[in-house]
Amino acid sequence: MVNQDILRILKSNLEHVSGEEISSGLGISRAAIWKHIQELKDLGYDIAAVPHLGYKLLSSPDKLLPWEIKHNLKNRLIARNIYYYESLPSTMDKAAEFVSSNAPEGTLIIAEGQTKGRGRMGRAWVSPKYKGIYFSLIIKPKILPQQAPVLTLISAVAICRALKQQLGIEFQIKWPNDILVNNKKIAGILTELSAEMDIVHAIIIGAGINVNNTEASLPDGGSSLKEITGQKINRLSILQSILRCFEKEYLQFLEQGVELTLSDWRHFSLTLGRRVKLNTNDKRHQIIGEAVDIDSEGGLLVRLDSGLTERVMAGDIIHCKR
Ligand code: BTN
Repeated sequence: MVNQDILRILKSNLEHVSGEEISSGLGISRAAIWKHIQELKDLGYDIAAVPHLGYKLLSSPDKLLPWEIKHNLKNRLIARNIYYYESLPSTMDKAAEFVSSNAPEGTLIIAEGQTKGRGRMGRAWVSPKYKGIYFSLIIKPKILPQQAPVLTLISAVAICRALKQQLGIEFQIKWPNDILVNNKKIAGILTELSAEMDIVHAIIIGAGINVNNTEASLPDGGSSLKEITGQKINRLSILQSILRCFEKEYLQFLEQGVELTLSDWRHFSLTLGRRVKLNTNDKRHQIIGEAVDIDSEGGLLVRLDSGLTERVMAGDIIHCKR
């Protein structure tokens, strides 16, 4: 906590702040201040210490540290508890442990890198340290288990909106969970459910965003924000923006129902209006037709050539050439 108080003081002063001023402000000795400054330096903060003038923050590390995420976040629910790890096998497994120990709604698990990051359909999610954003968020909406896919829609909308706000670029959603730009995948969402027949205990929303990765290091069809913009991107601002947009979209869903979520999702959809081919999860069944709409449980409605409409809840989708 003292480290964070010192950072707050340093951040609110553009010039040097004397050790005396910090020590009287926080009610601790100047020797203790010095010790905490060393700790902050060890975390990667560049702090100049000039005799007779005091301390000045020169730069902060490119890390998604919990107090940096919370700084000016102004959320009331999402990310109120943050657990931070330099490396994890997968934030999904850690989040599942927190769900078992009854962590509250809004708990965020963040890792700088993952050694066994996973995507949908048993695929791996490439998660090199400090390059991307990898998080899992625990939420506990009072909904039926079959409505859980709506949380994927909410997350996808939040990511597109945040990226638009931060970068001024339109991103699009490929049903159900891919975020694309110029037909390249930038981010993916994995939603896992802990539920009984008629009640959801918790939903874990996992998101992976390729930020400063090179395209060559990503699977075919993937790209990153850095490749798209030609600039190194500040991961912290992107994450904060996603968390703010998620909270807004989620509270809107809880308070007003699913309709606004669906219309927000339609706005960002790349899939609707396209001819699509779907391999459903049981693999025995292929569906080809036009994706016409999304329903209140997140299902995709596909009009077949026969004129019948089929509802699909999960699967891998291919957008056919126009
Ligand atoms: C997909 O597109 O298939 C979903 C990718 C989800 C990746 C994220 S990264 C953070 C969280 N931890 C994981 O192991 N997976 C999700």
